[in-house]
Amino acid sequence: MNGLSFHPAYLDRPAQEALLASLAPLIARAPFFRPTMPKTGKPFSVEMTNLGPLGWVSDREGGYRYQATHPVTGQAWPAIPQALLDLWQAVAHYPVAPQACLVNLYRDGAKMGLHVDADERDRAAPVVSISLGDSAIFRLGGATRGGPTSSLKLNSGDVVVLGGASRHFYHGIDRVLSGSSTLVPGGGRINLTMRVVG
Ligand code: SIN
Ligand code: FE2
Repeated sequence: MNGLSFHPAYLDRPAQEALLASLAPLIARAPFFRPTMPKTGKPFSVEMTNLGPLGWVSDREGGYRYQATHPVTGQAWPAIPQALLDLWQAVAHYPVAPQACLVNLYRDGAKMGLHVDADERDRAAPVVSISLGDSAIFRLGGATRGGPTSSLKLNSGDVVVLGGASRHFYHGIDRVLSGSSTLVPGGGRINLTMRVVG
């Protein structure tokens, strides 16, 4: 197998609501920002923020990287809530705690092109992904760009663990099915990915 494990409906609706409620004050302190592409400065359609000692950011000048502070407020990122650390413990099967939880907000047709998560030194650790809100079509390829891909519908409460070989596979979000969930105030999808940066 490729090391991907899929846990559909890992979080039930009350657990999804509790998780979102726990995130609200953290996101108020570390508001969503819109990253830009290295070199071109083209804005992402996805808005982002982070939790944990390190957060993933991107802009024209500095490119893709992890840093300890929010690029707009200059403040340290809020800590990763214990419930998320517990979820990591339960599904990651990895002895090290995540240092970064990237929070992606997909509104208004936002999507994410095929990419490999490659900015972490520790690439043996899995990436744990939690979906909240509107359903999304997740696309998974292989280790090289341009190979065959398959798609997987991710619904609110689903958890995906990209471990083993799949940790290094191309993946992205083709589209979000607008209005498919009532969870996120204002609509859209929130995806959390926890990573060990190393
Ligand atoms: C990502 O690859 O960072 C996000 C994937 C997702 O939104 O499910
Ligand atoms: Fe990714």
